[in-house]
Amino acid sequence: MAGNPRILVVDQDFETRAELQKGLVRAQFVVIGGVGYGAEALSLAAELKPSVVLVGVEDPPARALQTIESLTELLPDAPVLAYSSQKDAESARRTVVAGARDYLTKPLKTDEVVKAVQNALSQQERRRALTSGDPVPGLRSTGMVITVFGAKGGIGKTTVATNLATAFVAMNAGSAVIVDMDTVFGDAAMMLDVPVEASLVEAAERVDELDREKLGGLLVQHETGVKVLPAPFEPVDWRNVSAEAVEKVLTLLAQTHDFVVIDCPATFTDLVAVALEKATVVLLMTSLDITSIKDTTTALKLLSSGINNEDKIKLVVNHATNANSLGEEDVSKVLRREVFWSIPYDEEIAASAQLGAPVVTDRPLSKVSQTITELAAMLAGVEAGYSDNHHSNGGASSGLLTRLFKR
Ligand SMILES: Nc1ncnc2c1ncn2[C@@H]1O[C@H](COP(=O)(O)OP(=O)(O)O)[C@@H](O)[C@H]1O
Ligand SMILES: [Mg+2]
Repeated sequence: MAGNPRILVVDQDFETRAELQKGLVRAQFVVIGGVGYGAEALSLAAELKPSVVLVGVEDPPARALQTIESLTELLPDAPVLAYSSQKDAESARRTVVAGARDYLTKPLKTDEVVKAVQNALSQQERRRALTSGDPVPGLRSTGMVITVFGAKGGIGKTTVATNLATAFVAMNAGSAVIVDMDTVFGDAAMMLDVPVEASLVEAAERVDELDREKLGGLLVQHETGVKVLPAPFEPVDWRNVSAEAVEKVLTLLAQTHDFVVIDCPATFTDLVAVALEKATVVLLMTSLDITSIKDTTTALKLLSSGINNEDKIKLVVNHATNANSLGEEDVSKVLRREVFWSIPYDEEIAASAQLGAPVVTDRPLSKVSQTITELAAMLAGVEAGYSDNHHSNGGASSGLLTRLFKR
């Protein structure tokens, strides 16, 4: 809010008004006027556009209440605070019903009035930000952004992205949205069997008119509760989609969801650059075949030079087929990087995918579900309900957690 709050005092009683004005001025507020009820108050308010209006309400309250009602209609962005010598609940209730945001009782103490004004203003600012799409003060501004990237197709990026997001919701770690950024083979919506009504492209194109609520309306919800912002049904030329717009969409999503999981294409595009930049953690997926490892080596080089925090890149080995030519140790050696998480080959994935169901909820006891759930638990910082784990890291220890977020 620019400058000091500008306050209008509305009270029939001149002395109360003058007393209150004096106190407010001493507290560094700008009092732009004092006036009686009714038309006089309304025309002055319309002219001066105060940031807050204080209205005295005494018996009989009708005119004061009427004035409050009209003021809140006239200036919906200016909170109206009432004060009165009536201390009973019914008087307070009817004043609030008329539109007052607060009800102070006499004798008025300056510091209480000041606090009430400040509260009303910060509440107003939050409301404004919530509906405008601007950052909301005091609102946890970023959910965790998890970017699932890999240099090849068919290595399980979409499988991991959709199941990870589902696992967050299933374990009650918070809300989750999957953003499908795969420019051509976007199939997160298909994997979850949800319809594609609007897509990331539409969200980006309309970003200037989108607030959190409207953006929420573009998401589809899977029966597990996971939200999806799909890729367009028909492949489109994503070069026309502005990276800044996508950035803003991701920011809005991170303000309204605890986890934003981005399913990336296998290529470096401007949009992928945004997804990597925005990421709290990048899961760099590789399978164990030679070409995947070669491509991952290249990807790592590119990523390391282009990313703001190299430490957030975590190598995830997915045994996407049961015919692998290399072992995990070889991969680790070749890539000169620790394997952060390892996902076993599991035919249950395909069986669940056939049904349009994420394996973590469809077959929660399968090996792969347990591994992905543990990964989700670790990322979310909560304990998964499984004791025996099959991945190479020996479970979600707090040591790992510290290492993951050491910067
Ligand atoms: N760990 C795994 N075990 C068995 N099948 C897997 C595994 N990971 C992925 N798949 C299968 O591999 C195929 C490609 O996976 P997908 O997630 O679409 O890869 P990407 O998004 O990288 O192209 C899918 O049919 C999926 O069911
Ligand atoms: Mg995919």
